[in-house]
Amino acid sequence: MSLETTNSTPQSPSMSALDAMPDGEIDLDRDDQATDVRIDLTRLYKLWEANNWSVFALDFRQDARDWRERLTPKQRQAARWNYALFLHGEEAVARTLAPFVVAVPTQEQRIFLTTQIVDEARHHVFFDRFMREVVADEDTVIAPGYESTLDLMRPELTIGFARVFGELDRLTEQLRRRPHDRALLAQCFTLYHLIIEGTLAHPGQHFIRTYLTERQIMPGFTQGMAHVARDESRHMAFGIQMVRELTANAPSARRAVIALINRILPWTVSLFIPPDFDEDYVRVFGKELEDIYAFALRSFESKLTRAGIAPSEIASLVNNGEEQAPIEQARRILRLVKAGVLGEAAPLHVDDATLALIFDGVARLANMSPAVELNSAIQWEFPDAPPWYLAPQGGKIVASQGWAGAPALTLRLRVDDWARIVGRKLDARWALVTRRLTTTGDLRLALRLPSILHM
Ligand SMILES: [Fe+2]
Ligand SMILES: [Fe+2]
Repeated sequence: MSLETTNSTPQSPSMSALDAMPDGEIDLDRDDQATDVRIDLTRLYKLWEANNWSVFALDFRQDARDWRERLTPKQRQAARWNYALFLHGEEAVARTLAPFVVAVPTQEQRIFLTTQIVDEARHHVFFDRFMREVVADEDTVIAPGYESTLDLMRPELTIGFARVFGELDRLTEQLRRRPHDRALLAQCFTLYHLIIEGTLAHPGQHFIRTYLTERQIMPGFTQGMAHVARDESRHMAFGIQMVRELTANAPSARRAVIALINRILPWTVSLFIPPDFDEDYVRVFGKELEDIYAFALRSFESKLTRAGIAPSEIASLVNNGEEQAPIEQARRILRLVKAGVLGEAAPLHVDDATLALIFDGVARLANMSPAVELNSAIQWEFPDAPPWYLAPQGGKIVASQGWAGAPALTLRLRVDDWARIVGRKLDARWALVTRRLTTTGDLRLALRLPSILHM
């Protein structure tokens, strides 16, 4: 069905911005959509009613045969890991949505969020039933109760998952105590609807649905995943609109949202790194990790833009070259994750190529608007790596390997500690206090450095 059920005239692409596709899914991935179209929440509610579905009406008998006979042992291992992330993710989002219902200002918004809680609970039940009836080994008996399935699958979760969902618990608990805090509410929508649903779950669902459809396997699960994706498209459309409304003409809410994104993005990148960085978890289904990360980046950047925030305002996107194609950004992120600079999927190992990538990002941050004037050179002196410096050159700030002529400021620290600061694992001020970082030269410049480098 279409959101415009009474209008059969084809609309121009920009006017059909938030219309549903024939199957009821709202396509938020198209580039040609207007970003300023307001969704009527009654239309979203009608879509919810029209697209209600039943987990227990799905037939998993063919799925169980396909799981045993048409997936290889490696594909089963990879799918079990990926579906465990979804099982726990759906449980977490179902559990943490209630404070939003109390905090939103209008009854239309409360009603929409109530439909979403039902959806998320149903998604949890869907993954629970699939785990029990299809994924669990023949000799594994899962005790009754949702907790048993969660316990069984908990060892599959990644450190990135624990960090991101731990933050969801923390922020929504704050919202429960401070429901009138609009900046906090905007942060909660950003984390829940833009980051978790839009950047983590959406690419995962797209990946799963693609290989299920290509291989024509597990028809019950395929059908359920289509329902989940349709539900999620409504949730994301709503969340984008909420972030847009809460941050428009509200500079403090906008700053809070941007600060949250900068803090969380470096952790989200290790959520979908398979155990032991074994990329075969993705390759066995015909994709590369970088394809999934590129899809995620494109999804996040387009949703953020729709919410009225430009990717060029986000330091943790700018330092990764946000103006480049998503696949280039994805490759760059994965190099930093592999080097242990971002996330916790690999031990930290900073070689010369990684350090060059780090300083390329530092220069991008130094040139980010609103530009903080940097009129003189800053030198980095590492006891265990080649020196680097930042200096103004031809109207912009350039990073180069080597020694600056007469730096106004010199920073001395181990290269690993610099990588930790860049990866937001070590606070620069704490490094100063504990003497892991020492400086000589212009003290006022040193104090302005966090602003200059957006750290
Ligand atoms: Fe969900
Ligand atoms: Fe959702």
